[in-house]
Amino acid sequence: MGNLSIQEKFERELVKGSFLRGDPITGDRYYSREFAQKEWDHVFTRTWQIGGMAYQLEKPGSVITYEIGNESILMTRAEDGKIRAFYNVCPHRGNRLVAEEERCGTKRMVCAYHSWTFSLDGVVRHVRDAEDYPQGSPVGKMKLEEIRCDVLGGLVWFNMDPNARPLRESLGVVADHLDAYQTDKWVRVMWLTGKVDCNWKIIHDNFNEAYHVLSLHRELGTFIDDAYQNTDYDIYETGHNRMRMKGCLPSSSSRVGEVQAPLDAILRQWDLDPAAFNGRVREARAAIQQQKRKLGAERGQWQYEKLSDDQLTDYHHITVFPNISLTMSADGYQVLRPQPHPTDPEQCLFDHWFMVPVIDGVTEVATPLGTRKVEPAPHETFLHGDASLGFVADQDLSVAVAQQRGLHSRGYKDSYLTRQEDRVRRLHEVINDHIEGRR
Ligand code: FES
Ligand SMILES: [Fe+2]
Repeated sequence: MGNLSIQEKFERELVKGSFLRGDPITGDRYYSREFAQKEWDHVFTRTWQIGGMAYQLEKPGSVITYEIGNESILMTRAEDGKIRAFYNVCPHRGNRLVAEEERCGTKRMVCAYHSWTFSLDGVVRHVRDAEDYPQGSPVGKMKLEEIRCDVLGGLVWFNMDPNARPLRESLGVVADHLDAYQTDKWVRVMWLTGKVDCNWKIIHDNFNEAYHVLSLHRELGTFIDDAYQNTDYDIYETGHNRMRMKGCLPSSSSRVGEVQAPLDAILRQWDLDPAAFNGRVREARAAIQQQKRKLGAERGQWQYEKLSDDQLTDYHHITVFPNISLTMSADGYQVLRPQPHPTDPEQCLFDHWFMVPVIDGVTEVATPLGTRKVEPAPHETFLHGDASLGFVADQDLSVAVAQQRGLHSRGYKDSYLTRQEDRVRRLHEVINDHIEGRR
């Protein structure tokens, strides 16, 4: 696999022909506790998940934690320079070991209950009354339970399954897509988590289709072509997929002939006259690609270097199975991630991150929540409705709770889908593959 070009890998992993069995998407998948437990046992504890940003663990002595379902995962960079992940639980009597989400300059982690003390490689280094343990002192012997951990694309990933395939192999060509954007040098300038009253799949289904764009996000049609006839859908054997939507191009469905905001500003930003494109607005995309190629490097936009022309203007929405959506563009990308609630399948925790490349001299950037400084953002958490999760995400969520209610109805049996929503059913079928032992 290592010697294949990205194009060869892409071709090889692409599912050819029909890929759907037609498994019904029944309502109970969104509210049944029994089904949620199956997802936890067969999907979430067996797939690679993102625990944080690699730069949070840049220095030895750094510790981060991340909660998913009933688990808290502890990730550290120890003095030996190695990044490791553990279950965040003290092996003495089961207390959660580290309470904070981020910590640096740490030499030892001390359990709050009886003060068992651990080094960052997870080994017990000190306990009180060591001679009183009839089975022998735990010092140097007992360890935190370690799990699989890796760094890719500037992100720290973990996997609770000891038999999981290595991260890069599991991501397949998706890892190469991230490499092209050089996301290891990007920074998270927005870090939001909202608690939403719907199952995690309501939100993730939404990110697996663009059929709703004209209904919920009509204003995007001035610079993103949402029409399925002009969009490419790549379905990979790995269970991940990618939707390639053209940007700097008005929606073919709305038949816009004039340059409208924000396309006018983008043209001006690249030294092009918006008026020159009225009547031939569909030529703006190629012109912007050329200008970005020509002027990008001298303006410090190093991240354009490995991107194809279409990646310079287009939105490549990558969904990483099971619950991660990455909306890649040349100038910023979003991590959109609904996570299962620890106990209630009718709630979820929705993460929205915005990442940008660090460019010399650029101190502020536009984000889904207005202008922000180019620096690591603090974590903002709230209940859905109390604050914005980003303009477009708010629009997506505006139907989530009503859909959660609707799925309880005896009148709902299965979704009746367009072809452009195939990735919705694909998600559910890959979940079934996991639950039923086919993956
Ligand atoms: S539970 Fe951690 S030291 Fe006792
Ligand atoms: Fe949307």
